[in-house]
Formats: sequence, C-alpha cells, structure tokens
Amino acid sequence: MRTPVPDYLQEVLGGCTADGGAVADDVPELAAADPDRLAVALTTLDGVTYSAGDDDVLFTVQSISKPFAYALALQDRGLAAVLEVVGTEPSGDAFNEISLEPGTGRPRNPMINIGAITTHSLVGEPGLAGAARSERLRRGLSAFAGRELVVDEAVLESEMGTAHRNLALAHMVRSRGTVTEDPTVLVREYTRQCALLVDVRDLAVMAATLAHHGVNPVTGERVVGARVARQVLSVMATCGMYDAAGDWLSVVGIPAKSGVAGGILGALPGEVGIGTFSPRLDRFGNSTRGVRVCERLSEDMGLHLM
Ligand code: DON
Repeated sequence: MRTPVPDYLQEVLGGCTADGGAVADDVPELAAADPDRLAVALTTLDGVTYSAGDDDVLFTVQSISKPFAYALALQDRGLAAVLEVVGTEPSGDAFNEISLEPGTGRPRNPMINIGAITTHSLVGEPGLAGAARSERLRRGLSAFAGRELVVDEAVLESEMGTAHRNLALAHMVRSRGTVTEDPTVLVREYTRQCALLVDVRDLAVMAATLAHHGVNPVTGERVVGARVARQVLSVMATCGMYDAAGDWLSVVGIPAKSGVAGGILGALPGEVGIGTFSPRLDRFGNSTRGVRVCERLSEDMGLHLM
C-alpha cells in the first residue's frame, strides 16, 4: 500500500456507492438513523487504529454484542458447560428464527437471537442475574473496547416496545428448561446488552482483541483466554453473518459479526481488527455498504483466511 492508511480508507469509502438495502424499521429508534452514514476503522495488533468517514458517530452494537457475550460466558463458565446449553452449528435460517436442534431445547448457535438470549443467561458466576449480570456484560464489552461503554436507554425502551418475537424465543427456551429465569427480565437484559453504544473505532479495537488471542492491543489487558478467543472466532466464521455466512466466508474470508444498527465487525486472527458502519441492511440483516467495504479491504490487503 503506497498511500497513507487514512487516505486509502477514505478512497475505499468513496468507492462504495453500492446502495441497496434499507434501514431496519421494526424498532422506531433504529428507523430514525441517518441512512447515509458510512465509516470504517482498522486496528493493528500493535494497537494503532486508523479510521475514515463518520468514525465518531455512535450507534448501538446490537448483534455484534453476541460474540462478546459468548466470550464472557465461555470465560466465566468454561467451554464444556456452555456447549452443553448452546450449539455451534450454522442454522441456515434468519437470525430471529426458532432454531433449536431437533427434539431439544438447545439453540443451534450463540449468534442467532434464540442462542444469544440463552448465552446472556450464562454470563457471570452461576446465580448472577438481572442488573448485576448486565453490569458484568457492560464491563466485559468495555474491556474489549478499551473504554467505558454506556447503554442508549432510548433504544432499549424503543426495542422493548416491539420485542414480541424475542419474548417468544425466550419463552420457548424457558419452556424447554434451557433457561430457568423469567423470560421477560431475560429479554430486557439481553436487549440492554444490544443497546450499548459504540463507534467504528470501538468495533475495530474489540475485533483486534479477539484477533490478538484475547489481549486488547491498545490497553494490554488480557480480557479472555486464547482458547476462548479461538472458540468465538470459529463460531463467528461459520455463523456470524447468519444465512449469508457461506457467501461471506468464501468472498471476504474473515470471521465477522453484523448488527441491525448497521455495524460489521471483522477479526482476522493474528492480523487485524475491522469495524464498518452504514445503516442500510440487505435481506439477511447485514449492512449493504459494510459488506462492500469489507470485500474491498479483503481483496486489496489479501485478508482472506484461505
Ligand atoms: O435482538 C434483536 O433482534 C436485536 N437487538 C439485535 C438483532 C441484530 O442485530 C441482527 N443483526 N443483524
């Protein structure tokens, strides 16, 4: 790369005019997002972050919180205990489907909503619940980002007003005994997890912490163990982009996770962390221009895993 990195990133954003898709409209606060926002950030494993575009605009992390909640559950409860409750197979279905392994109450993976609601219940010591568990999550995600993250209360309340489907999913796992707590409280706390505010630079640092085997390259803090980071990256690779995961892995080739507010986080093990932001989504619920930006970065910098 001959041009300075920020100029290169600006050039990448300028080239990403492919503009299909629509801002998520099922949650009023998310529907109000400016559809034209566009940003990208990269964090290297020696802790330098480069960014361009709307890199100081905050948005809710949404489903990008799922791999980090999974990481904390693995760290707090151990691999075997978490695997007993939540699987690691791609569902092939939309992110909000009732994707349980046949004849069981075990969600297929922690990246879809039913698996993420269940995974939320596994964070912290057994018995930790409600606000105390949410604080463990907020602190955990903040350690990945290297700064204190806060909840967007307006998005939380707005999303709770239309959370019928997540409530149904939580009642489903409660009826199977996969979770044992009040589904309404569980969905509220899971939704609080999704309502943490980040910008693309946060996403890039969070991704770089996974890529750096669990050590935040900016703060130097070991947030989770290397085995935990490997497990999370593996599940992101196969399940992170939902029913577009196969296309994503073959074209972009980077373990990744998308969020309904328009973020995408990509983590290339041993190499780099990536964050993108653009609110218009494709039919899989992935940011249209975010996907384009990641395709371009992967191609230009030879980031494909294979
Ligand atoms: O639970 C939900 O449906 C939202 N809080 C998060 C969904 C999401 O981000 C899907 N991603 N593209």
